[in-house]
Amino acid sequence: MKNSIVVIIIPTYNERQNIGLLIDSLQSEFGSIPHDMHILVVDDTSPDGTADVVREKCSQCSNLRLLLGQKKGLGAAYIRGIKYALDVMNADVIMQMDADFSHDPADVPRLIAALDEGADFVIGSRYVKGGKIPDNWSLLRRMISRWGNRCARYIAGLNPVRDCTAGFRAIRVPVLRSIDFDNLKVQGYAFLMALLHGAVSHNAVVREVPVVYTERAHGETKLGIKDIVEFILNAWWIRFDSSKTFIKFAIVGSSGVVVNLGAFTCLIYAGINKYLASPVAIELSIISNFMLNNYWTFAERNTRDKFHIKGLKFNTVSLLSLCISYSVFVGLSLLLPYMAPQIAQAAGIVPAMMINYFLNAYWTFRKD
Ligand code: GDD
Ligand code: MN
Repeated sequence: MKNSIVVIIIPTYNERQNIGLLIDSLQSEFGSIPHDMHILVVDDTSPDGTADVVREKCSQCSNLRLLLGQKKGLGAAYIRGIKYALDVMNADVIMQMDADFSHDPADVPRLIAALDEGADFVIGSRYVKGGKIPDNWSLLRRMISRWGNRCARYIAGLNPVRDCTAGFRAIRVPVLRSIDFDNLKVQGYAFLMALLHGAVSHNAVVREVPVVYTERAHGETKLGIKDIVEFILNAWWIRFDSSKTFIKFAIVGSSGVVVNLGAFTCLIYAGINKYLASPVAIELSIISNFMLNNYWTFAERNTRDKFHIKGLKFNTVSLLSLCISYSVFVGLSLLLPYMAPQIAQAAGIVPAMMINYFLNAYWTFRKD
């Protein structure tokens, strides 16, 4: 991969105090890298005048460019930057990097070296051995990062990648060309997960290189509630879009709803007390779900456990689901005594089904 054109894309929104220093710092690293290094700053017309700082630097360095646009979110900025780097700058490799010194410019050579060693998609990872998140991160910030990654790994199916939301990466262009950016449906931070998913589904070789992540000294984070909501929805969309197993599980789950509510209604008509009819109906639906999941949803999976172990585990998960579903039913019935019992019964299905899916997919029917 000698003498490739590497474009480091840096999205900026109100980074006036950081961007100039970062550009200088990157330029001083470039001497030790055996490639043709460029920087592309994608600024969303920041009101603090970030672009002015970059323009001034542009007049001094020929390997620096500025792309201006309207603020639509981090993902939208990256998509614009990537298209420009591919179509106009003829990039062989693109890098993603924050403007706020959270990513150490001195780590750039290591990320590129990992590409040179054969990887297609290198992640500067905070969650592998040797990597680190800042000690001064608040509990909330840690939770957002940790749960965001869990979402990406277990809902969007990106496991075993540890840091799926890292904003520090080096990617070979053929991987990017295989991804349909107009179809990613993401504007904000969810882009980071969507891009990784696109690469993984085109069989890119992913490698995580440990990095120490530092909290910014100037300015503030732009991560907002809108990004978090989009992230969660996108994780489910990826799951739905790419997993036959989950779709089958959802179909089985829906059939279970019919069995559950049908049996419940029949039992009530037969004069059975609703507090007894509820768990019986739940149990019946669990049995029908088990049969369908075992012989259809997970039938082709080469599972680790023997049949009787799977049976035992499935029963344990079912019992847990039953408890959850029944607790919701009892809770709602006591809270709203005049509500139709079917509504309380239906409300218990959703949380029970989620837990049921994850425990069964990753524990009961665990892959060998
Ligand atoms: N052009 C543009 N438009 N740039 C943006 C926008 C936007 O709407 N939103 C954020 N940025 C830029 C910031 O100016 C910064 O350079 C970079 O994107 C990261 O934004 P921060 O606001 O510093 O993000 P963070 O520190 O909260 O998030 C970091 O950690 C996340 C995971 O925990 C980043 O590394 C993220 O990439 C990462 O997902
Ligand atoms: Mn930051």
